[in-house]
Amino acid sequence: MFKHGMIFMGVLFFVLLGVSPVQAADYVGVKKCKMCHMKQFKSWKTTKMAKVFEHLKPGVRAEAKTAAGLDPNKDYTGDATCLPCHTVNGSADMPNVQCEACHGAGSDYMKVMMTNRDYKREEVIAKGLILPDEAACRKCHNEKSPFYKEFNFEERLKQGIHEHVPLKKAH
Ligand code: HEC
Ligand code: HEC
Ligand code: HEC
Ligand code: HEC
Repeated sequence: MFKHGMIFMGVLFFVLLGVSPVQAADYVGVKKCKMCHMKQFKSWKTTKMAKVFEHLKPGVRAEAKTAAGLDPNKDYTGDATCLPCHTVNGSADMPNVQCEACHGAGSDYMKVMMTNRDYKREEVIAKGLILPDEAACRKCHNEKSPFYKEFNFEERLKQGIHEHVPLKKAH
């Protein structure tokens, strides 16, 4: 009886919120993407984006931090103001600017890629895949960053995010 009550309360909760209990996509982490996108992974790994979580540790980039008015000896790895731009999801569990920081949470679109190589692009986009434009980059490359440098989208793209491998199919 109690158990049914709990389920009822759970359903009521979602009804009251006006949402259905459907889960949003989850972040799966770079290791999953690497399984099928090795070239992008290897080249991404050599960029600074793969190491930006390090910047939050005490003593790292001390001169730059001092110049920006931050405390070089402070541990910023748990600091909620820094984490959103130095992790995928604002948490130390998903450190660095991994694939999903640009391409969106992957649990749903990855399933489509896994099961159907002939997927239609609308399908993966509907499942949360982002093909990032300038606005997607500016979520992090903006004046809220204590180290903001002018951000020229075309030039930064050329500077290298990862190797671009032409798609085998048209999608
Ligand atoms: C099981 C294999 C597999 C996994 C895991 C996987 N993908 Fe893919 N992905 C594919 C395939 C296959 C394609 C189509 C490639 C082609 O046509 O050449 C693709 C295409 C893409 C594209 C191009 C989309 C388009 O149509 O323009 C992006 C971006 C992408 N994947 C990102 C990711 C990211 C990020 C992850 C991790 C969250 C991931 N993939 C995980 C297999 C996978
Ligand atoms: C709005 C996003 C954002 C926030 C918030 C943010 N950062 Fe960053 N951080 C960046 C970006 C983007 C860069 C790279 C700058 C560039 O290349 O334009 C960067 C670069 C850095 C660097 C390297 C600087 C250098 O020149 O060597 C350090 C260190 C750093 N951030 C620490 C922090 C700390 C500590 C905090 C919190 C107090 C923080 N960041 C908050 C986005 C952010
Ligand atoms: C989640 C936050 C975030 C997003 C989204 C993001 N960046 Fe960055 N990016 C950073 C941070 C932090 C650095 C700092 C690297 C450093 O200075 O050590 C950085 C560094 C870079 C670099 C320098 C890499 C290197 O090895 O020198 C390039 C190029 C770059 N970003 C381009 C882009 C582009 C283009 C986009 C959008 C398609 C983008 N970024 C989206 C946070 C982000
Ligand atoms: C800083 C942002 C950023 C990060 C991080 C990033 N990508 Fe991309 N990715 C892009 C952009 C921009 C494109 C070009 C999108 C377009 O064609 O409109 C792209 C394209 C792709 C494509 C299409 C084929 C190709 O090579 O161009 C795949 C597959 C892909 N990314 C996978 C990955 C994987 C796997 C990772 C992590 C190892 C990753 N990306 C990390 C921005 C990023």
